[in-house]
Amino acid sequence: VILTQDELKKIAAYKAVEYVESGMVLGLGTGSTAKHAVDRIGDLLRQGKLHDIVGIPTSKKTHEQALSLGIPLADLDSHPAIDLAIDGADEVDPHLNLVKGRGGSLLREKMVEGACRKFVVIVDESKLVKHLGGSGLAMPVEIVPFCWKFTANRLQNLFQDAGCVAKLRTCGANGEPYVTDNRNYIVDLYFKEDIGDLKAASDAILHLAGVVEHGMFLDMATTVIVAGELGITVKNK
Ligand code: A5P
Repeated sequence: VILTQDELKKIAAYKAVEYVESGMVLGLGTGSTAKHAVDRIGDLLRQGKLHDIVGIPTSKKTHEQALSLGIPLADLDSHPAIDLAIDGADEVDPHLNLVKGRGGSLLREKMVEGACRKFVVIVDESKLVKHLGGSGLAMPVEIVPFCWKFTANRLQNLFQDAGCVAKLRTCGANGEPYVTDNRNYIVDLYFKEDIGDLKAASDAILHLAGVVEHGMFLDMATTVIVAGELGITVKNK
């Protein structure tokens, strides 16, 4: 049997939920993979197999989903220490560094996942890459709307040597700017060449006034669960 990508996502998500124990404060991820994990946590709560869970959602969308499943919710203000977060990713490199945020929720994800003791990432095997930013897909950066073109140009210039093109993320038929849960914009960076040292790239991006956060999650994941045609692989930091 050939499994669909969504079936693989679900397999990884269900495996990650095996790490959840009653009484935990849980970071709830965002995206099509994390959605399966949140559904599963809701099921186990309803069946009485889990209890005393507090969920800290990483987006308005996940907040809505978790509410509809009856998962008790809180935020980082009241629960600054999280036991475990489960979330998807867009790219995973061999050192378990990630690109996230193609779904737009990178800022809240980084805040929540940066506050957890254990961060379990769930992906299907299509997300594995050799180098972050090398897949030809977007590296998202959340920026303030004020003079976004100015900031987008500065971001593009930072990575001129890597053939970077910066594009404002848009949505809808009229190409309106995509607006994040934090009322910011997203600029997607596309690279033709390797961007080199990731920490240096991260620092350079964060140094620009107007940038709020970027989608590189360096040295944050403690476990990555990869679902592929041949089964599940668990990679630990
Ligand atoms: C949301 O902003 C993202 O970081 C998602 O976690 C990421 O895009 C993975 O999404 P999928 O599970 O839908 O591929």
